[in-house]
Amino acid sequence: MHWRVSSLISCGVAAVAALLGTVDAAHAAMMPPAPARAGLTAVQAHCSACHRETAPGHFDRISEERKTPEGWAMTIFRMQNVHGVRLTQKQLRTIIRYLSDVQGLAPSEIRAGRFALERRPNHPILKLPYNLPVMCGRCHSLARVALTRQPASEWRKLINFHVGQFPFLEYQDGSRDIRWWKIASTQLPAELAKLFPLHSAAWRQWRNRPRADLAGEWIVHGDTPGRGDYYGTALIKRKSWDRYGARYVLHYANGAAFDGSSDAIVYTGFQWRGTGTLGGKSVHEVYFASANGARIGGRWFLDGHAEIGGDWDAARIAGAAKVMAVIPGALKAGTRQRVIVVGRGLRGGVDLGPGTTARIVARRPYGLILSVRVNAHAAPGYRTVRVGGVWKSDLLAVYRRVERLEVQPAFAIARLGGGTLAPVDAQFQAIGYTNVVGAHGKVSAVRLGAMPVTWSVEPFNAEAAKREDVRFAGTLNQDGLFLPAEGGPDPKRRFSADNTGDLYVVATRKTGKTAVVGKAHLIVTVQRWIHPPIY
Ligand code: HEC
Ligand code: HEC
Repeated sequence: MHWRVSSLISCGVAAVAALLGTVDAAHAAMMPPAPARAGLTAVQAHCSACHRETAPGHFDRISEERKTPEGWAMTIFRMQNVHGVRLTQKQLRTIIRYLSDVQGLAPSEIRAGRFALERRPNHPILKLPYNLPVMCGRCHSLARVALTRQPASEWRKLINFHVGQFPFLEYQDGSRDIRWWKIASTQLPAELAKLFPLHSAAWRQWRNRPRADLAGEWIVHGDTPGRGDYYGTALIKRKSWDRYGARYVLHYANGAAFDGSSDAIVYTGFQWRGTGTLGGKSVHEVYFASANGARIGGRWFLDGHAEIGGDWDAARIAGAAKVMAVIPGALKAGTRQRVIVVGRGLRGGVDLGPGTTARIVARRPYGLILSVRVNAHAAPGYRTVRVGGVWKSDLLAVYRRVERLEVQPAFAIARLGGGTLAPVDAQFQAIGYTNVVGAHGKVSAVRLGAMPVTWSVEPFNAEAAKREDVRFAGTLNQDGLFLPAEGGPDPKRRFSADNTGDLYVVATRKTGKTAVVGKAHLIVTVQRWIHPPIY
């Protein structure tokens, strides 16, 4: 199975150019959603032979469930792959857009499973009630479940389809510890329908809400694990009722350019799916707009390496004055540094709290560039950042020593590459903490954010040492990025074993004679053969 869904559900550059060639962009934005009519026609043409249209616009099974664009893409992929449905890329896009709009999810219904759409690597397992983690969370993430809405009768059919399509399911699931089929075929459909029903007030309200226009100027900030914070502006233009084009002028904390652009489709009025470039690399964007269209947040990731990416937070440039971020978020006592206060409407003087002196070097559309001096004797702890009449606590900390390092993620999986298969890398960062003694002698930890450290790997246990996993499983670079080795039998290894490994990832920060160390657990395992849009 080879999924190219990221680029399928975000619009390619060529598609936008073609669209603009035929439709006047300004006029298109005002038109009623023509793709809705095109979508209905396409479903009638390509689906209704098997899924009867029982009432106008109502199709057997299809109209009995709601899901995300990625969820629809997966189902239709199966219709093509298993049931012989033939569709061009254009027809496929039209159908996914239509179904995501008329049979979609409301923002609140996406919250729990959003991490999977954003392809966040090593995300903790979703907490769901009953015995869903055991019954449904052993083969794929529970996001696949939590991003589907249907009645009990359809949940039952989905379970039947699982067993029909994968007759060895119970063994694969390792479910000899439970009576899988008994539970799945009796109580589970009703439990699932109670948690994830077809009809909801949230969807009724969302479906009838006018869609926000996301065009305009935006302030952006975010974080690329391994590379650090970035900030700048975005200019978003509307190209038709659900298509946008964006240009980004961004910088990393050290001033390095991180510019980009993208073309996006906005599904269901709030689900931004873009493809473009950032810092010269091809990326996909999975963002979500707030209900009033004032905020866009999510994650972007590299094409072909979804595990590598960054957080994204954008707010409209126009609006009430606001401090949004401070870069860097921690300042060492006894230093002078360039500090960016990201925010809008930042007028008046700046104050970063006791022990600091801040001077405004430049005013920019995304905020202020400051030169900040921190006294050698400044007390460690959080500082309130004030600009004119607005302020924000907890965005900036002062420290003298890094007292603890926490490597994130604490547990990670990387996968070997090989042949045409790209490896799945693992990105780590070392989060620093310093201790602050409070009023009654109470010690509390102040988070300092990602710190520069020296990275190394160690065997996780005696078996890993004996197998020489450190030598064979891959390499960790000094940005905290683990690059796995090639898969397949390795004649250099004992028993020609695969290059899998069980490792500690170690972050070390030395100041003078003292060293602070943090560790995480990394498992390097076999290749990832399939890349479904909802893992
Ligand atoms: C050749 C017959 C055929 C055509 C055409 C067809 N389907 Fe299906 N569809 C099936 C069968 C059989 C099942 C039940 C087995 C399964 O789920 O794979 C099914 C199940 C489904 C389901 C419920 C399963 C789930 O997991 O959500 C949906 C939704 C669906 N189809 C959507 C579509 C859409 C959309 C189209 C048109 C693009 C389409 N189908 C075209 C045969 C077809
Ligand atoms: C043995 C492994 C396994 C178990 C256990 C399992 N699934 Fe799946 N599930 C799969 C696979 C494989 C697919 C992808 C099927 C495809 O589209 O070809 C899938 C797909 C899905 C989908 C998407 C369907 C679609 O139309 O694309 C949903 C929703 C889902 N599973 C829910 C569940 C629920 C609910 C349970 C528990 C009752 C469960 N799964 C248990 C393997 C499993």
